[in-house]
Amino acid sequence: MQIQFIDIPKITNTKGNIGVLENDTIPFEIKRVYYLFDVPSGAKRGGHAHKKLKQVLIAISGSFDVVVKDGKSKQTITLNRPDRGLLIENNRWRELENFSSGAVCLVLASEAYDEKDYIRNYKEFKESQLNK
Ligand code: TYD
Repeated sequence: MQIQFIDIPKITNTKGNIGVLENDTIPFEIKRVYYLFDVPSGAKRGGHAHKKLKQVLIAISGSFDVVVKDGKSKQTITLNRPDRGLLIENNRWRELENFSSGAVCLVLASEAYDEKDYIRNYKEFKESQLNK
């Protein structure tokens, strides 16, 4: 399974940096932006796949691990830099864990929220991947 990172353009300065997200930085049109914050120590997020929606995850602050599965293989990626995004394609199972204190996960999404787009049962996800 190929994992794709997105380098986020930055304007660096001794007084602090600016990360810039524009539509041509992200490989889809952004329809929604949300963020996870105040995640309690030991909590796990995610635990689902999306049929259509793609996402880019960015550790705007702190760090966390992203476990990505395509039904055949699994990769664990640590995100800990605000200038690096992780692309999660549709039809990928994801779990987010090991959030550091104060971690903020920014999510850029290709679709509006739609519960019908989620696969929340891993067995169902695995079966849906068999012929792909
Ligand atoms: P979910 O996507 O399962 O969270 P995570 O993957 O971060 O663990 O969403 C958690 C709950 O919040 C679920 O009931 C759906 C709801 N929700 C919305 O109503 N709108 C949204 O934009 C998002 C992302 C979630």
